[in-house]
Amino acid sequence: MTAEIIDGKAFAASVRARVAARVADLPRDSIVPGLAVILVGDDPASQVYVRNKRRQTIEAGMRSEEVRLGGDTPEAELLAHIARLNADPTIHGILVQLPLPAQIDTLRVLDAVDPAKDVDGFHVTNVGRLATGQPAMVPCTPLGCLMLLRDRLGSLAGREAVVVGRSNIVGKPMAQLLLRENCTVTVAHSRTADLADVCRRAEILVAAVGRPRLIRGDWIRPGATVMDVGINRVEEDGAARLVGDVDFESAVEVAGAITPVPGGVGPMTIACLLANTLTAYCRLHGLPVAAELAGA
Ligand code: GUN
Repeated sequence: MTAEIIDGKAFAASVRARVAARVADLPRDSIVPGLAVILVGDDPASQVYVRNKRRQTIEAGMRSEEVRLGGDTPEAELLAHIARLNADPTIHGILVQLPLPAQIDTLRVLDAVDPAKDVDGFHVTNVGRLATGQPAMVPCTPLGCLMLLRDRLGSLAGREAVVVGRSNIVGKPMAQLLLRENCTVTVAHSRTADLADVCRRAEILVAAVGRPRLIRGDWIRPGATVMDVGINRVEEDGAARLVGDVDFESAVEVAGAITPVPGGVGPMTIACLLANTLTAYCRLHGLPVAAELAGA
C-alpha cells in the first residue's frame, strides 16, 4: 500500500482564495483587514517567513505593516510598538515573530498583544478559551492540520490521535483542538517511554518534535493519517535538504495519507494566519465569521 500524499500547497492556495474572495466582498467604503508583523533581530529563517507573510497578505487584498527592530531592542521598546498597534483601528492582527532575542521575556510580550488581535493564538486568554471550548483565536499550524484532517477524514470523533511534541505553538494547541473534535488524544514527547508503541496506536499521528526523521514506517499504524509538522534542515551528500519529523520513504508505505515536507503542513500556516486575520477583522467589526476558516 502507498499512502495518499496530501497536497498542502494546493489546499493552502484554496484557503487563501477563500480569504481573498471574502476580503473582495467587503463593502467598498470599509477599511481593509490589516496585519502587522513584528520581527526582532535578523534570524535568517524568520526573515524568509516574514517576507512570505507580507507577500501573501497583500495578495489576499489585505494591508501589511512590518515592524523591523534590531536584535538588541529593549523589551520596553517592543512593548511600546505592541501598545501602538493594539490601539490602531486599521490593524486587526498582530504577530510577533518567534524566537525573540534572549533579553526579551517572550511570554510577557505575547500577553501584551490584544487578545482580539492575537492572530497567533498565543495570548493566555486565547489559550484558555481554546482549552475551555470558547471561541478563540486558534494557533495557525494546528489550525492548518485540523483543516487537512477534516478534509480527508470528515468527522474526527472517536478517533485515536497521538500528538508527538508538547510545544506551546503546536503540540499543546493541537491536542486541545483534537480533544474538541472528540478524538481520544495522547500527547507524547521526548521523554515518553516506548514512543514507537504509543505512535502505533494512532489513527491520526501529528509529529511536531523537531527531530529529523524520528518517526519511521514501522512506528505507524497501517492506514493512519500522518501530519508531519517538522521542518528540519539537514546536510546530505554535501547538499542542504529539508526533512520532516517523519521518515517519509518508509512511512509512505504504511500510512493511509501523509503530508510531505516541504509542501504539506508548512504552506497551511500562512494561509491560516490570513484566515485568522479575517476572523479577527470580522469579530472586531461585528461581521459574521466564516466557521470553516476559523476552525469552529
Ligand atoms: N516562529 C515559528 N513558528 C511561528 C509561529 O507560528 N508564529 C510566530 N509568531 N512565530 C513563529
